[in-house]
Amino acid sequence: MQAGRIVLGGTNTLKLAKQVAKILHCTYKPIVHNHFPDGESYLRLPEVKGKAVVIILGMYPNPNEEALEAMFAIHTARDLGARHVTLVAPYLAYMRQDKRFNPGECVSAHVLPTLLQADRLLAIDPHLHRIRHLKNLFRGNAQELTANNVLASYLQKNHPNAVLCGPDEESSQWAAAIAKSICLDSLILKKHRYGPNKVKVKVKIDHVARGRDVVIVDDMISTGHTTAEAAGLLFRLGAKSVSAICVHGLFVGNAVQILKKAGIRNIVCTNTIESKYSKINIAKLIAGNL
Ligand code: R5P
Repeated sequence: MQAGRIVLGGTNTLKLAKQVAKILHCTYKPIVHNHFPDGESYLRLPEVKGKAVVIILGMYPNPNEEALEAMFAIHTARDLGARHVTLVAPYLAYMRQDKRFNPGECVSAHVLPTLLQADRLLAIDPHLHRIRHLKNLFRGNAQELTANNVLASYLQKNHPNAVLCGPDEESSQWAAAIAKSICLDSLILKKHRYGPNKVKVKVKIDHVARGRDVVIVDDMISTGHTTAEAAGLLFRLGAKSVSAICVHGLFVGNAVQILKKAGIRNIVCTNTIESKYSKINIAKLIAGNL
């Protein structure tokens, strides 16, 4: 048992935090997060004085609530005398609003990390498209980890002959990179987003999917529209089957129904967000980097 380190689990990341603590042979405790009658958050931490505190806290399904939980927990850990505070955000929210798309908008991807006053921030595949590194957003020591190797092992075992499809150019850092690492074919589509629930995808080379089992690979599935649109196109191109894999399975609202209606056979994601589809465990990846 590591005496000087303690792992604290956030509200929706208890299971993952417990697994990481077990791998690290250190104490695990949950963060107590209740609510006052008016809805304000009430947090309580265990004894952390003099310890290196690792807070593992994902920011979904209630990003606002959980972002506040992270801020309060970090602040309280310091206040209670922690010697070092690391925040592990398996899913770091707000990263998609990374520029001012319309005049007057808040660039939340810049704001949230500045409010997280930990010494160190670790996030799994944060949605960094226009911003290259997490360290450009966070004043402490920041590190982004990728689940690519874990996804690659799953794909190698379960879809050894598949074509990997990235539904947009940005997804090539997952789809094309993983395909290259395990010698599979890949196909990257071009996406145009007209709004949160409306996307269109196009293809440049159309023969790769014909007669093949295709797995759509992306960092996240949110409303499911990107993946469903991509699946529709892949079937029109002659794909034999289409499955979907992602790092962060948000599955907002009826996303799963949308995916199933699009004919997607298997849906799998990692446990950065816990759900019945989170079959790929990233506990070792986190523990190995702490
Ligand atoms: C976009 O850049 C992301 O990589 C995902 O493709 C996107 O966020 C998925 O969103 P949705 O499931 O709502 O289409």
